[in-house]
Amino acid sequence: MRRVALRALLEIERGGNSSQVLDRLLNRIPPGERPFVTEIVMGVLRWRNRLDYAIAYFSKKRLDRLEPQVINALRMALYEVQNMHTPEYAVVKETVSLLRGSWRRAFVNGILRNYLREGVRYPGRDNPLMYLTYTLSVPEWKALRWLDEYGLEKAEKLAHFYNSPPPIYLRVNRRKTSPEKLMGILQREGMVVEPCSCVPFCLKVIEGNPRNSRALKTGMFYIQDIASQIAGFIAAELGTKVWDCCAAPGGKASHLAEIGLKVFASDISLPRLRLSHDNFKRLGVKIYGFVADAKKPPLKERFPMILVDAPCSSMGIAHRAPEVKWRITPEKLKELSRLQREILNAILPYGEKILYVVCTREREETVDVMDGLKTERVPLNFAQCEIPFFRKGEILFTEPALMKSDGMAYSLVLS
Ligand SMILES: C[S@@+](CC[C@H](N)C(=O)[O-])C[C@H]1O[C@@H](n2cnc3c(N)ncnc32)[C@H](O)[C@@H]1O
Repeated sequence: MRRVALRALLEIERGGNSSQVLDRLLNRIPPGERPFVTEIVMGVLRWRNRLDYAIAYFSKKRLDRLEPQVINALRMALYEVQNMHTPEYAVVKETVSLLRGSWRRAFVNGILRNYLREGVRYPGRDNPLMYLTYTLSVPEWKALRWLDEYGLEKAEKLAHFYNSPPPIYLRVNRRKTSPEKLMGILQREGMVVEPCSCVPFCLKVIEGNPRNSRALKTGMFYIQDIASQIAGFIAAELGTKVWDCCAAPGGKASHLAEIGLKVFASDISLPRLRLSHDNFKRLGVKIYGFVADAKKPPLKERFPMILVDAPCSSMGIAHRAPEVKWRITPEKLKELSRLQREILNAILPYGEKILYVVCTREREETVDVMDGLKTERVPLNFAQCEIPFFRKGEILFTEPALMKSDGMAYSLVLS
């Protein structure tokens, strides 16, 4: 099974998306082995900086000179030793047997044996930047930002939150069932769920895997983070007709249709739009879908409201897709910021109110994109109790570690 984990890590390193790669490779192995492979792959992606710190400590070669299969095999072994309590002799033996060539095997064997004999002292809290960067595996640029903006204590909480498996939330499809009925159905399927206190029609999964549920296949719910469900509720307060111009795979568009809005949904990607159609069909909602580049809106009419769930760095979902931590750089944030502003500028003439949403809280993708635009306070009348957001100007941000949600930002722009 370690071979499958290594293959997944190599594919992700070449640009793959962790969930997609795992979905495909896990299908080929017995169900009982899947949690082990998932844990190693996601663990290595989350803790990469921490694992590399230990490898660098014992390696005579620079890490960027190591072959991908060698460094990833080492990361897997160290993750197992540090987090999974696999017997050490088994980890060394299995890791060495993953590699071909006596040089590679001797190199990996040497590093692992040195680590097991001597251990590594990780940086402590007295050096906050090193501590966050290596001990808690936060990219250095991000650690600097967190320290600057929040201080060590909050940065530490965020790092722990983003290094843990994400909570799973369900959006109850009000067209087909109610939260109470769905809770009963899921309970009979062996799952434990509980209502979210502040957000209606939202259930939090406590135990069990909703992806295996029959109720999912019949469209009784959609798996969607609480922060995305909030985006849907905000949009629903802004009008009864909406154009969702970055809609695939249709999470927010289907939510709005369930609530009763007339929804037009477009996306630049045809394959992703097809996924949306599958979701719309399963959920039993009618949505007008079309392929379009939001930078060149193919519209004649003006909409009372446009939802822009913009392409973004996804830094706010690094607990679900930890590979983004190592791909995104401040330069990439600037590029994304330009794209987001380009999309907003192009659609502004076609909407009265524009809800701009991103699953990131980076300055470039939020505050900088809003610079110079006419904005208004985001309405939150749907909330059944006070949600611990914070605001910068009129932009609303989630508090992921407090809310146990994705990191997300919402802005209301007026044309
Ligand atoms: C964050 S995802 C949208 C998620 C979706 N709203 C949901 O709730 O399921 C961003 C989407 O924007 C699309 N996209 C990227 N560039 C675009 C463009 N120029 N015009 C339209 N869609 C674009 C991507 O294909 C992707 O599906």
